Amino acid sequence: MTLAILGGEPTIGNPGVIGNPVAFTAQDRDAVIQFMYSKSGRLSFYGREGLLGRYEDELAAYHGVRYAVLTNSGTSALYSAYFGLGLEPGDEVIASTYTFLATVTPLVSLGVVPVLADVDPETGNLDPDDVRKRITDATRAIVVTHQWGHPAEMDEIMQIAQDHRLRVVEDSSLAIGATYRGRRVGSLGHVAAFSLGSSKLLSGGQGGALVTDDDEIMERANLVGHFARRSEAQVRSERYLPFVETGYGHNFRMHALGVAISYRRFRRIEDLMDRRARRYNALTRQLESSRLLRPPVTRPYTTRGSWLGYTAGFDAEAAGVDIDTYAKALQAEGLLVLPRGYHPLLHRTALFTRYEDGYRRQGPFAPGKRVYAEGDFPAAEAHVDAQLAFPHFLDEDDWIIDAYGEAIRKVENEIDALIAWRKQQTAE
Ligand SMILES: Cc1ncc(COP(=O)(O)O)c(C=O)c1O
Repeated sequence: MTLAILGGEPTIGNPGVIGNPVAFTAQDRDAVIQFMYSKSGRLSFYGREGLLGRYEDELAAYHGVRYAVLTNSGTSALYSAYFGLGLEPGDEVIASTYTFLATVTPLVSLGVVPVLADVDPETGNLDPDDVRKRITDATRAIVVTHQWGHPAEMDEIMQIAQDHRLRVVEDSSLAIGATYRGRRVGSLGHVAAFSLGSSKLLSGGQGGALVTDDDEIMERANLVGHFARRSEAQVRSERYLPFVETGYGHNFRMHALGVAISYRRFRRIEDLMDRRARRYNALTRQLESSRLLRPPVTRPYTTRGSWLGYTAGFDAEAAGVDIDTYAKALQAEGLLVLPRGYHPLLHRTALFTRYEDGYRRQGPFAPGKRVYAEGDFPAAEAHVDAQLAFPHFLDEDDWIIDAYGEAIRKVENEIDALIAWRKQQTAE
């Protein structure tokens, strides 16, 4: 069969029907409208009353900790976590270069220096051995991202933290519900933050949450994004009580409708996780016979929970073409795949490669400090450059997953034609 990129029929004629990661139902819509009218005029939570307090209590209990603070985004939840730890300008926090920008951008706006580290080549998660090498006298914390739902190696990370008296933040945005050696992510470090926005499993459109068992982190997280009634409900210590009246400057309140939508999804989290796993396990079965694509590895002592993101390793050498050409061929077949993962490595972004126009030209981001270059993180570069990212399947029909497999087999069978096309392109 002729490849679509060479003028043949695409495997999937209408790719518009694919990739519905949120999948709201008519019941969601009715419940939200009902909630909107029941809020009698003020569509916001000023304190911890009603649904907001209930959702926070249930989220905390789900993670086996005492506190949860909802915020208006995952980014502000991360900001609250860092502020909660009491980090100060000039402090350093070690983060993976392979994470979404919001894992580290709140550090930048607090004047804290994100120090990047390399990854485990198999899972793409922070490499504990590399973390050890990056510790300095200024290091205060480590932030892990459970990349694409796969838990980071938390026993080793917590051991490093203990050895060096560091705190650990978990960015669980992609992994809510995942487990590591029988324990739930989000309860393994000192504080966890996650997004409840965009395509996340518990999306309320926009939103985020922080969970912790630590009184001081909770009080400071309250005060940085809230004041008055909200903080009165939770801030108890003599040290922080005087600041309840004003808070510390931000309004991180989550929108009431976002709370209502996200809460409904939280109540059926097990079902949503099962649906995601069913689609991604089916996709893995489609890839198992492939000579060119390697499905992601899930280590036996882990589960991936909300599993937000599926990337497969591409063997360019075996294929005889580069990943961009291969992805183009699949895209022409109607597949919504992306070469080199969903987002760039942080050390390849302007924030980490230039200081001239960066957010802070003083202090830790002053000229000569923390500017990274290609080649600095070889494992992450090799890993990401070989990754093909798939859509966030949740509710797709079985035929769509089958069609992905069919298109992958088609391109593989016709790989010589693709190689010839590529040669011709480069010659022109
Ligand atoms: C790993 C990770 N951390 C943080 C965030 C930021 O969340 P938000 O978009 O809700 O601010 C995201 C969002 O995609 C993410 O993927």
